[in-house]
Amino acid sequence: MSSKKIDTALVSAGRKKKYTHGAVNSVIQRASSLVFDTLADKKHAIKNRAKGELFYGRRGTLTHFALQDAMVELEGGAGCYLYPCGAAAVSNSILAFVASGDHVLMTGAAYEPTQEFCNVVLKGLGVSTTYYDPLIGERIADLVQPNTKVVFLESPSSITMEVQDIPAIVKAVRAVNPDAVIIMDNTWAAGVLFKALDHGVDISVQAGTKYIVGHSDAMIGTAVSNERCWDQLRERSYLMGQMVDADTAYVAARGLRTMGVRLKQHHESSIKIAQWLAERPEVAQVNHPALPSCKGHEFFVRDFAGSCGLFSFVLNKRLSSEEIANFLDHFEYFSMAYSWGGYESLILANQPEELNRIRPAGKVDFDGTLIRVHIGLEDCDDLIEDLANGFSRIG
Ligand SMILES: Cc1ncc(COP(=O)(O)O)c(C=O)c1O
Repeated sequence: MSSKKIDTALVSAGRKKKYTHGAVNSVIQRASSLVFDTLADKKHAIKNRAKGELFYGRRGTLTHFALQDAMVELEGGAGCYLYPCGAAAVSNSILAFVASGDHVLMTGAAYEPTQEFCNVVLKGLGVSTTYYDPLIGERIADLVQPNTKVVFLESPSSITMEVQDIPAIVKAVRAVNPDAVIIMDNTWAAGVLFKALDHGVDISVQAGTKYIVGHSDAMIGTAVSNERCWDQLRERSYLMGQMVDADTAYVAARGLRTMGVRLKQHHESSIKIAQWLAERPEVAQVNHPALPSCKGHEFFVRDFAGSCGLFSFVLNKRLSSEEIANFLDHFEYFSMAYSWGGYESLILANQPEELNRIRPAGKVDFDGTLIRVHIGLEDCDDLIEDLANGFSRIG
């Protein structure tokens, strides 16, 4: 892997002359058919179709290759597969390694559709899932079975933000079942704030929809794999018909160029606002990985290079539905939306029992209403004033 600093790599990765044709950015090569001049050219393309040689649109064009090269440089590994969204990256990475009778270990605080994929699709295929407490650490060894084919991590956890001890989990799994494929949803760290492959994970999956695209206007998923898993991941995903159009691949590559500076601002602003929230009388607990009050904070300090803009906090009372509406409906800068990772601030509320319904392992230990925020690139003082006004509506 490159020894470049991450901000430099974000600007330069994948911008090879063969992809840019003299421009700064890669060309947008839209194609289904790729034309061979001679039979020998066609044979060459067949032989090298998985190695960045133009073959057929579904295998990718120069635009896709540029983004894939960039992702491999940024996250390390042998290759990067592109999917139409993050959920497709998650489900196809798992599907590539399981068959009927196999077993998956899934963090009990995973993104809800990831759990639903296990409960519905994998179950229907005869693949069983055991959910584990995200803070399980090395005790995961007790849950690994001879037929465990995939161990899936997501850190920090969706919504409640527990940071996992990934080196301990990786070591414990490898000691019991070295063949199990360890896959991580690395969306929160945008693949660069936590270097999953350097920490022993086999495949780092991202919803590039979030920080890579960065402007809430396109969807893409990425899976960067080590050498051990790359051929199987690539060929199975290809057989599942997974691909993304050239325009979206271009938009994602363009997003990378500003991701370093955006992440720095998300980091700075989210910590400032988290610290402000920690002082508020209405707030019982702040779940920001960079604050000691977040579960697994010590692993964040040890393993992560920084934070993004997504975190949550728990109010010291449970709001009624009317109070939640009063709180959420009148923000000036915080909108309600399911995604995150764009330049804009977002807010959502969850009651503890709603969270427990989507946490098959690692139930929550609080009674107050949880608020999840995404701190965007607006001025912090404006966002703080907006939140303070929100608190006065539920005072
Ligand atoms: C942690 C996490 N992983 C995966 C996804 C799925 O990404 P997409 O919406 O691009 O399918 C999301 C979306 O919110 C997410 O938050």
